[in-house]
Amino acid sequence: MKNRKGIILAGGSGTRLYPLTLALSKQLMPVYDKPMIYYPISALMMAGIREVLIITTPRDSQSFQDLLGDGSKWGMRFEYMIQENPNGLAEAFILGEDFIGEDNVALILGDNLFYGENLQRILTKANSDEDHSTIFGYTVKDPERYGVVEMDEEGNAISIVEKPEHPRTNLAVPGLYFYTNDVVEIAKNVQPSERGELEITSVNEEYMKRKQLKVVKLGRGMAWFDTGTHDALIETAQFVQTIEKRQGLLICSPDEIAYDNGWIRKSDLRELALPLKKTEYGKSLLALSEGEI
Ligand code: DAU
Repeated sequence: MKNRKGIILAGGSGTRLYPLTLALSKQLMPVYDKPMIYYPISALMMAGIREVLIITTPRDSQSFQDLLGDGSKWGMRFEYMIQENPNGLAEAFILGEDFIGEDNVALILGDNLFYGENLQRILTKANSDEDHSTIFGYTVKDPERYGVVEMDEEGNAISIVEKPEHPRTNLAVPGLYFYTNDVVEIAKNVQPSERGELEITSVNEEYMKRKQLKVVKLGRGMAWFDTGTHDALIETAQFVQTIEKRQGLLICSPDEIAYDNGWIRKSDLRELALPLKKTEYGKSLLALSEGEI
């Protein structure tokens, strides 16, 4: 099977979270018990992706490296790159060209959280489709805030529009995209939109024209949040808190997923957990490393 690499886009100006983000990146903000970027890292790990490029602003790059290191603690490999200006999501593939090389690639936005019963199965399936690119569709009340997709019965995208005034469906496109290797060439040919950005929706339109864009609808049981406003930040944190407290299970813990995936050993998990043992997060990991869960 062709290898797939991952890119996390964790830049942007964060103006919708001012003054929180005047001195600190949005994607380092807490979402209940862990930094925001743990959630997209977890999604890529659940898909089975081990090599990840983390793209940040110049200001915040060092902080991400202090938090995450080279990825080896989770049996992964992280590289870092700087995006000088927020020129648009599709720029990730231009910046990441050398990192991607001959491989396929998945992009996830650093402020997106996914959680649900069948998530791992859905993500590994998208990861293993080498011939198509895959995006997702998620029913929302306010589709005009997002990329909006329309699909046929076979799961092919038939229209996709960025923030339409009059959406044709209520299916928003979440910030997680599985692309074939030609995304690099496609991104290079994207023209800036009216808001001056290289839009991910333009990339998706091109795949759609080539009849290579699959849409997987995420069902009722699935949670998708983007945590880019004050309200969204606290609502997402409350969601994580509610489920973790009720079930005693962790949502999107890279430490746990690394262990589940067999990328680290029980003794490694224990080493990771010990410094965190004063927290419920650390206690859960310790219990896992002692085989109690
Ligand atoms: O969240 C899903 C939506 O994300 C999709 O439905 C839309 O199709 C897609 O365009 C995007 O819409 P947004 O308007 O929410 O994108 P935003 O400009 O807020 O950027 C999303 C994240 O990516 C944000 O956390 C900042 C980061 N970013 C953004 C840009 C433009 C970067 O790291 N670099 C950038 O150049």
